[in-house]
Amino acid sequence: MKLDRFLAKHDAMGGKNARRLLMEKRVSVDGNLVTDGTREVNRFSRIELDTRVIQESERAIYLMLHKPMGYLSATMDDTHPTILDLIDDPDRSTLHIAGRLDRNTSGLVLLTNDGRWSKRLMTPDKKVPKVYLVETSEPIALEAVAAFAEGFYFHTEDLTTLPARLIILDKHHARLTLYEGRYHQVKRMFHRVNNRVISLHRESIGSIKLPSNLAVGQWRPLTAEELQTFHVTSE
Ligand code: URA
Repeated sequence: MKLDRFLAKHDAMGGKNARRLLMEKRVSVDGNLVTDGTREVNRFSRIELDTRVIQESERAIYLMLHKPMGYLSATMDDTHPTILDLIDDPDRSTLHIAGRLDRNTSGLVLLTNDGRWSKRLMTPDKKVPKVYLVETSEPIALEAVAAFAEGFYFHTEDLTTLPARLIILDKHHARLTLYEGRYHQVKRMFHRVNNRVISLHRESIGSIKLPSNLAVGQWRPLTAEELQTFHVTSE
């Protein structure tokens, strides 16, 4: 939301009063005086009028986790451990998962309490690349490269998968880049070329890579640089 609109709604002060306060240099956002009413604010912005805090900022959380196999990409489950069980942040109950992995898939998972950020990351229009390391039961046919690039029609969703990049590493291993995230997508794509995925690991999402020093089951906050990739600028 824009700052002038936020102020106008606050205490029902109205647009005229909001503009006046901005002109009189009485409003600050995150400690900086702001006169531009078009400035975007959200629940993570600390907004002050004179010396009075009119909105305290919520703590925005952005984490990466090295998901182990066997953990559900869910916040709660009665039978299986969930990836939230691995996060010992005091605000972990506010988190949601930006891009799930199947229970038996390992690798990079991002978690946040910022819905706009995760939406932006996951929206199909953004075509954020996700890279997977795949191990298969059968030798990977050379023809699979063209088939993956062409896309597969998925009857259930009535759609054709976006062109995907398959690099064959050896007989049973490949690196696959997808630009979307459909249900069991990697497994279903390999099934179409008469193969079966026996292990799957996500290496990266956009420019965020799973660091080699983040052990299985460990998590850490995203760095400012990593966050910059998916910076949200508008409401
Ligand atoms: N595709 C799959 O089939 N499984 C995953 O966990 C992720 C992508």
